[in-house]
Amino acid sequence: MTALANKIAIVTGASSGIGRATALLFAQEGAKLIVSARRQSELKTLVTEIEAAGGRAIAVAGDVKDETLAEELVRTATSRFGGLDIAFNNAGIIGDIGPISDLSLAGWHETLDTNLTSAFLSAKYQIPAMMARGGGSLIFTSSFVGYTVGMPGMSAYAASKAGLIGLTIALAAEFGPQAIRVNAILPGGTDTPASITNAPGAGPEVLAFVEGLHALKRMAKPEEIARSVLHLASDASSFITGTALLVDGGASISRS
Ligand SMILES: NC(=O)c1ccc[n+]([C@@H]2O[C@H](COP(=O)([O-])OP(=O)(O)OC[C@H]3O[C@@H](n4cnc5c(N)ncnc54)[C@H](OP(=O)(O)O)[C@@H]3O)[C@@H](O)[C@H]2O)c1
Repeated sequence: MTALANKIAIVTGASSGIGRATALLFAQEGAKLIVSARRQSELKTLVTEIEAAGGRAIAVAGDVKDETLAEELVRTATSRFGGLDIAFNNAGIIGDIGPISDLSLAGWHETLDTNLTSAFLSAKYQIPAMMARGGGSLIFTSSFVGYTVGMPGMSAYAASKAGLIGLTIALAAEFGPQAIRVNAILPGGTDTPASITNAPGAGPEVLAFVEGLHALKRMAKPEEIARSVLHLASDASSFITGTALLVDGGASISRS
């Protein structure tokens, strides 16, 4: 028996990195998927890969800042697969980095809208659909940055990711009585296109610095984060709600 047999899930940020790895794992574990991001070609490749392995997935491209996308994802899950059980609201950006006096209001809004307001929009449509199924599991991708670690120059990112934890706690309390679990996952440095270690011009010294932040002295692979998301999505975590789950290789407790 697979962990997500007969489950229907939305995964955002599925075109790349952690979202892509999680979509593949969810499909392998039996879930029917709605996968979303802005880049259609990447989504198409993902759907082909999932279907080739015998899974089911539908791509819906769009921008998580748009309320219409949040509604469309749930409508597609309901009309094509019959409902919604799981939502991995994972799309996010680092956004503008720098001293706060240099940050523009537009840059601040771009980060907050992409990382935090998108989560509000997602939950607004996902929770009623889950209630109609008698319960469900929402997972938001937060970060150790803004929770256990302050990184100079990352104020907008940190504020958006910390905001997700507040949202997680409030929704978990609000909808626990309806059997809806809400959790945040807090990855450490993960080797994805978004990582600063893969930024143009980032040399081996950047990689060494980021690896050194972690007690395990390495970065995570996206698949390692995906396995923890699977835990929060599945019934294996049936009594876990309102948590901020650090999957950070000890970045939060390491000072060496
Ligand atoms: N990598 C790390 O070290 C790390 C650590 C802690 C937390 N995180 C968080 O993990 C999540 C996934 O990031 P990742 O590392 O896997 O990076 P990634 O490979 O760049 O993936 C980011 C995903 O978000 C999507 N996305 C970004 N802006 C979007 C928008 N406006 N509308 C719709 N989709 C959008 C991207 O798709 P399109 O470009 O196709 O739209 C992509 O699929 C993010 O929330 C990130 O903040 C990452």
